[in-house]
Amino acid sequence: QIAILDFGSQYSHLIARRLRELHIFCELYSCLVTKEELFGGTTTEDDHPKQIIGIILSGGPNSVYDPKAPHVAEGVWKEIEERKIPLLGICYGMQELAHVFGGKVAPCEKREYGKATVVVTTAPTTTTPDDGTTADGSGDEDVSPLLAGLPNEFDVWMSHGDKLHEVPTGFRAVVLYYRKPAPRTPPTWPLKISTQMWGIQFHPEVTHSPFGKDLLRNFAVNIVGAKQDWIMSDYAQEFMQDVRMKVGEHGHVIGAVSGGVDSTVAAVLMTRAIGHRFHAILVDNGCLRKDEATQVLKRMRDDCGVNLRCVYAQDRFLSQLKGVTDPEVKRKIIGGTFIDIFQEEAKMIEEENGIHCDFLLQGTLYPDVIESVSYKGPSATIKTHHNVGGLPASMKLKLIEPLRELFKDEVRELGIALGIDEVSVWRHPFPGPGLAIRILGEVTPERVAILQEADAIVIEELVNSGHYRKIGQAFVVLLPVKSVGVMGDGRTYENVACVRCVETTDYMTADFYHLPHDILGRMSSRVINEVVGINRLCYDISSKPPATIEWE
Ligand code: XMP
Repeated sequence: QIAILDFGSQYSHLIARRLRELHIFCELYSCLVTKEELFGGTTTEDDHPKQIIGIILSGGPNSVYDPKAPHVAEGVWKEIEERKIPLLGICYGMQELAHVFGGKVAPCEKREYGKATVVVTTAPTTTTPDDGTTADGSGDEDVSPLLAGLPNEFDVWMSHGDKLHEVPTGFRAVVLYYRKPAPRTPPTWPLKISTQMWGIQFHPEVTHSPFGKDLLRNFAVNIVGAKQDWIMSDYAQEFMQDVRMKVGEHGHVIGAVSGGVDSTVAAVLMTRAIGHRFHAILVDNGCLRKDEATQVLKRMRDDCGVNLRCVYAQDRFLSQLKGVTDPEVKRKIIGGTFIDIFQEEAKMIEEENGIHCDFLLQGTLYPDVIESVSYKGPSATIKTHHNVGGLPASMKLKLIEPLRELFKDEVRELGIALGIDEVSVWRHPFPGPGLAIRILGEVTPERVAILQEADAIVIEELVNSGHYRKIGQAFVVLLPVKSVGVMGDGRTYENVACVRCVETTDYMTADFYHLPHDILGRMSSRVINEVVGINRLCYDISSKPPATIEWE
């Protein structure tokens, strides 16, 4: 495997993602990993040592010359050199490489952020770096393996405040970059010595570096010699082996599931790893979509064999929501009640089976991790998002998060690799508080029933017309207004509903989906004719920002 040592860059997981896309087996480790952890005979179940064949040092927010900066352990460096393990340093990783081998890293005059153009200079030179050309002249090394197939000039993405001022002895500079349209600035360096160590200042892992993936492939395949035979189902195998070790032969795991793709994939993985020692709980809070609990039970319990129990708590939730119109209060009530029920149910499972659950399964994805880590500063609460995972620390459960390194599309790929049905895999996200935040104003059982019917029709039309999978999220909102209509010869005075369909990849920004008029027409005619209580249907054409995806 290729080991990625993470120095804390926002992009570290993207390195792993790009390698996975190239079907190369890799794993992320802390930059402070010890020699024993990295090389020391870690074994997989079939007793083959995990062999580290290449190393990538990620970027990071620190300065290598800062006394508190993180560094690769001495033992690890020694092992890399002795075993001649090819290494690629990216941004901070390159600076770490240079710093350790005696080069000089210092601050840039100005932080360099954004697009730059790389110009490849292959001829060895002997001039100093600061005159805008390359230095050292140590070698005839062939730079082509790293840059094979890349043009002589290509755009890259950078984000750094420090750069290399002196190349360490034994390394040489082979590329310089300049920013358009400014004149050449002193170069930053890919480096190479006989032990196959390379460094680049820019970030090949981001999509804004169009040739970045080619460069990573060149490193992993041409230089390291990695095989491109890794597939998503290998991820499942690795997880299952790891989790069996962690939970042990008798341990029990508990987790809440909603039937969405994340919790379904996590639950199926867990079930395949430890069978019925995983206890899943589905809470029907009375604000789910039409027939949702029944369908989730069928898909997860009957089709995937998950040890799942459903708590039917509609009355408990709906009675607490009586008279409540404030969206944040709705969220608090639903979140709080959910936690109470989950704890009660967990206790019941333990008592009934004479067991103790030490672990909690959560379907946290990588974007959730970045969001929670990067939003440290004070920020306005737009909405309190209660996910099923928001359980109290007092439960003292150890977390298991199998999807923590994956992005949504990778989770879907994993779901498909696990043979999970397409309905679960392609399901749009659904908020924890469910229809309660799509019923503007008071949530009553009658209004829930009206919305469930309208929503089911709209989703059915999207699926049948082939638009469902192109849309990030689609749903209906029930508005707190009534409008006059005419049906047959009579006047109606009924609810107005609104269809919301958005295109988005990260749910942080979104645009309204341009749904063809004939489909809108069919939805409207079906909803108004089939759903008693709605006589007008609108389409939401707002983007996020300034609107949000949900209405509340
Ligand atoms: P907004 O409305 O903030 O939604 O643009 C972004 C994404 O988050 C979902 N969402 C929630 N999910 N609990 C959740 O679990 C919540 O309270 C909540 N509010 C919004 C929303 O459906 C969209 O996918």
